[in-house]
Amino acid sequence: MGNGLSAAGSGVGKLFILNFVMKILVTGKGGREHALLAALADSPSSPELFCWPGSDAIFEIAQRTAARDLPSLIGWMLEEEIDLCVAGEESLLVTDQGLANLCQAAGIPCWGPPKESAQLEASKEFAKEFLVRHRIPTAGYSAVDTKDEALAAIKSLPVVLKFDGLAAGKGVAVCGTQAEADSFLDAVLVQRQFGPGRMVVEECLTGPELSVFCSIVDGGYHILTPARDYKRVRDGDDGPNTGGMGAVAAPALVPAEMMADIEERIVKPTVAGLQKDGLPYRGFLYFGLMLTPDGPKVIEYNCRFGDPECEAVMPLFGGDLAEYIRHAAAGDLKTELLEPRPGWSVCLILASAGYPETSRSGDVITGLDSVAGVRVYHCGTRRNADGNFETNGGRVLAVVAQADTREAARDKVYLEAAKVDFPGSQRRADIATLHFS
Ligand code: AMP
Ligand code: GLY
Repeated sequence: MGNGLSAAGSGVGKLFILNFVMKILVTGKGGREHALLAALADSPSSPELFCWPGSDAIFEIAQRTAARDLPSLIGWMLEEEIDLCVAGEESLLVTDQGLANLCQAAGIPCWGPPKESAQLEASKEFAKEFLVRHRIPTAGYSAVDTKDEALAAIKSLPVVLKFDGLAAGKGVAVCGTQAEADSFLDAVLVQRQFGPGRMVVEECLTGPELSVFCSIVDGGYHILTPARDYKRVRDGDDGPNTGGMGAVAAPALVPAEMMADIEERIVKPTVAGLQKDGLPYRGFLYFGLMLTPDGPKVIEYNCRFGDPECEAVMPLFGGDLAEYIRHAAAGDLKTELLEPRPGWSVCLILASAGYPETSRSGDVITGLDSVAGVRVYHCGTRRNADGNFETNGGRVLAVVAQADTREAARDKVYLEAAKVDFPGSQRRADIATLHFS
C-alpha cells in the first residue's frame, strides 16, 4: 500500500504519524454493492472506498470515480493508486477484455476471476461440461442448436430450457407442458429473440434451493454463511422469477452434516476442477444448489456474491472484510480475518410497480428516516431535484435485520419496512417463513 499515505503532525519535533490507508474500488451499483461497501466501511482497517458506476446512495459511503468505460476505469485506478478492485457484479468480469484480466495486466489486485474462469457463470454449456467432467452432481442435460434437436432431446416433462447467452435474466424457462416448451423454443431458437446461441435442455430437479458462497483462492476455499433467496415475485413462491424478492441467511440455515456433504460432493471437486482445468480463480464463487431427494445438486455457478443474499449475509460478518479480501486477492486466504456471527439475518426487497415484467422509476420514497435498528441498502434509487430519494429500477430497496432467531429477525424487518413506502411498491409477505433444515 504505497498510496493513500496521509501524514499528520507539526511543531519542532516534526512528529509525523504515518497512516497507510488502503484504497478499494468496488464495481457495480445495486443493493449488493451497497451492502459490500457498507461492510468494507465497517472494517477496522478503515479503507478509503470508491465505486463505479455507483449510485447516489452509494456515494454517501464511497467516492465517485471519473471513468467512462472499463479501459478508462483501469487508467483511473492506476492514477489513483487503487490497492484493490472488488468485482461486485459479473458483467465486467465476463466482457471480452475481462475486468480481472485488465487488472492483472495493470498490476492491480482484483477480487473476482478472469474472463476464462467467469465462463462458469457466462455460459450454461461451459458450466455443464465442467460439472460433468468433474463428476459434480447436477441435472442431466443436452446442448442443442435447433428447435428440432431440442424437441428430440426433451425426454419428459417438466423440462428446463436454458438459452446459452445473454438474455437479461429471461433465458431460463421451466416448462410444465409441451406447449410451453414449444413457444419458448420458437421464441429463442426460431425467432432468435436473444440473438444467436445454443440451448441447454435440462432435467427438471425438485427440492428447496440454497445459495452457498465460498471465497476461492487458487486451490484453497473458505465456505461463508449460506443463504436462501426468494426468486418468485409473489407469496408462496408463485409468479414469474425475479432477481430476488428477499433472502434469509444464518450459519444455522443448513445442518452441519448437509454442509459437510455439500463441501465433499460439490465444493472440493469444483475447486480441484478449476485447478485441473487451469482456470485461475480468486474471488467469491456462488453455488446455486437444489437440495433434491438424491442429495444436493448444482443448478448454476455465479462468479460473484448473490443479490439479495449479499445484503443478508454481509451484516453477519465481524472481523475485517477489507483486510480479508486484500490478503485473499494477493493469494493469501486468511480465514481468521472474517468472523461469521451467529444469529439470523433477513432481507426484504421493496420492488417498484410492474416488476419484473416492467419497472417504474420516479416514485418518491417516504419513511426512510423513520426506520430504526435495521439497515436499508439501495438497489435502485436516485435523488430527485428536491434531494429526496425516488425509485430508479425494478428492485428499489433492501431492508435487512438481524436477531438471535429467524422469527425475531423477520418480525423486525417487517415492522420497520412497513414505515417505508412509494407508489406501487411490491413486497412479499412470506420472506423467511418457508424454511428447511
Ligand atoms: P438459472 O438461471 O440457471 O439459475 O435458473 C433460474 C431458476 O430456474 C433457478 O433459480 C431455478 O429456480 C430454476 N431452475 C434452473 N435449473 C433448474 C432445474 N434443472 N430444475 C428445476 N429448476 C431449475
Ligand atoms: N440471488 C440470485 C442471484 O444473485 O443471481
